[in-house]
Amino acid sequence: MRIRKAVFPVAGLGTRFLPATKASPKEMLPVVDKPLIQYAVQEAIGAGATELVFITGRTKNSIMDHFDKAYELETELANRQKQDLLKLVQDVLPPGITCIFIRQAEALGLGHAVLCAEPAVGDEDFSVLLADDLIDGRLLPCLAQMQRVYQEHGASVIAVQPVPKDEISSYGVVEAQNIAPGLGEIRRIVEKPKADEAPSNLAVVGRYILTPRIFKLLERTPRGKGGEIQLTDAISMLIQEQTVLAYQFEGKRYDCGSKLGYLQANVEYALKHPELADEFRKYLTQFTAELPQQQSRMRAVKP
Ligand code: UTP
Repeated sequence: MRIRKAVFPVAGLGTRFLPATKASPKEMLPVVDKPLIQYAVQEAIGAGATELVFITGRTKNSIMDHFDKAYELETELANRQKQDLLKLVQDVLPPGITCIFIRQAEALGLGHAVLCAEPAVGDEDFSVLLADDLIDGRLLPCLAQMQRVYQEHGASVIAVQPVPKDEISSYGVVEAQNIAPGLGEIRRIVEKPKADEAPSNLAVVGRYILTPRIFKLLERTPRGKGGEIQLTDAISMLIQEQTVLAYQFEGKRYDCGSKLGYLQANVEYALKHPELADEFRKYLTQFTAELPQQQSRMRAVKP
């Protein structure tokens, strides 16, 4: 009951991060010193994945390069005796892990991106990770937590978290019947509902464990919200046929698809970074102490 295959849809347009995402993918934006996609890949490998399926689009070559062998760089680092840096580069993709890249010709939505993974996933249960949702699972990474739930219940598992009412219309939202603390069976799932029509405050975030039945349902999912083929709409059909669980993970999620969430992630990960934490904490303490004076200076300058 180990999930071997992890799917990474990385073909979105990343419009919220333009112009940074004009020619390079948002999944390559670094949080401190690692690109977002590397955090997600490490989470999947940590949960037991050995086959990584990237659904890529135009401008995504840097993702392929990032997980490829860097012969020149590695030779140069070895010549210069930079063993630590060489290890950092080589550890990007541990031995025994296979990468498959599939092109999503048009960004027709997350559901369509997942459907593109069917030839590589075949007839087995698989995970989907959206790298722009960076999750610090604290004691156990989010996907590993979900894997435990999957092993216990033998069903699809979707990560959810409570969000404030004024943000709910940006998410897929579930109505679930509780079966254990933090775990419920999904009764209804709606993509981006109006705040007043949301079935709960539990929003879907970017981690899924799904059965391959989802592919057949995605094939007949019409375009939904925003004219895109929505994964949520296919999951809404899946719950008619199979148990799908909503799991409230332990930990903190950063919405790195938004500028604010991305900045928060950088600050908080820097405060935990072994090389940076002390100096960065000092800097932040000093900076925040000076902030009121700076703000009043700026107010004085403004007309
Ligand atoms: P988002 O909803 O964040 O869309 O996609 P986006 O295009 O990446 O970003 P914005 O909203 O324009 O700023 C959620 C995830 O689904 C992937 C994205 O790469 C992201 O990981 N995705 C989305 C695809 O792979 N293909 C698509 O057609 C749409």
